[in-house]
Amino acid sequence: MVNGKTSLYGIIGNPVRHSLSPVMHNSAFAALSINGIYVPMQVENVADAVTGLAALGFIGLSVTVPYKETVMEYLDEIDPVAKRIGAVNTLLFRSHPDNGAVVSRGFNTDWLGSNLALAEKMQLPGSRVLILGAGGAAKAVGFGLVEAGAEVIISNRSADRGRELADWLGCQFCPLDQLDGIQADALVNSTSVGMEPNADDIPIDSKLLGNFRVVMDIVYAPLQTTLLKKAAAAGCRTIDGLSMLLYQGAVQFKIWTEKQPPQDVMRAALLAELARQ
Ligand code: ATR
Repeated sequence: MVNGKTSLYGIIGNPVRHSLSPVMHNSAFAALSINGIYVPMQVENVADAVTGLAALGFIGLSVTVPYKETVMEYLDEIDPVAKRIGAVNTLLFRSHPDNGAVVSRGFNTDWLGSNLALAEKMQLPGSRVLILGAGGAAKAVGFGLVEAGAEVIISNRSADRGRELADWLGCQFCPLDQLDGIQADALVNSTSVGMEPNADDIPIDSKLLGNFRVVMDIVYAPLQTTLLKKAAAAGCRTIDGLSMLLYQGAVQFKIWTEKQPPQDVMRAALLAELARQ
């Protein structure tokens, strides 16, 4: 029941209509009997949104495409790791203890979400991981792995963009047509290949899947992508795209509420919502 004491949270981005985050966070509030609500907000002007939502008393926000980088300009404080990545996906508003003024602080939980998802199926330190992609998602996955002490290899359709990310991470780049020479502990698809409506697409030749022990996909619609199905058939352990989404959200929830997130409830809510969409 929303009443005068309800705490406000939400997601800003454009578009946000298909976001699974409202269902995930609202299920967590309900499970822990927290009087909070999390709403989707399609935003045209991120500066106005941050100022306005701070003024309205919001406590926490998720930030999604296309504002993860630009939002940083409008925050009072940025967590040092988010500053190193150059992207923020989580905001926390709090009152300054001296004068009560609202202070906004930005965090990045995407890299932690990816590490937590991978760590369920493998040891990260000392492992070798091939990442497909060079966008924001690949950057978060790569940053997390390097931070955890893994050796990363980047591959990407556009070689220039791939090399740029590999240089930034301080790791190797491998052109897509030379992947047959790569053996690694894990493969992570951080591209949009395989996403509905192109669910038959696969980002790597399926004959190469035997070269990896673990395969993670960040695509979650469909949940069982062609990549994950073929990887399972090749004997790999698989991690679906809901895992990174769940864990980055679980870390956000902890930042906002300082409570242990009910991850099983959140995952069940995500699965139910995916089935509905
Ligand atoms: P995000 O921030 O979510 O990672 P992005 O910046 O648009 O999104 O990056 C999308 C990634 O998917 C890129 O690595 C892109 O490859 P390019 O850099 O060559 O564009 C990759 N990608 C998208 N569609 C692809 C396709 N059909 N085949 C191969 N790679 C694709």
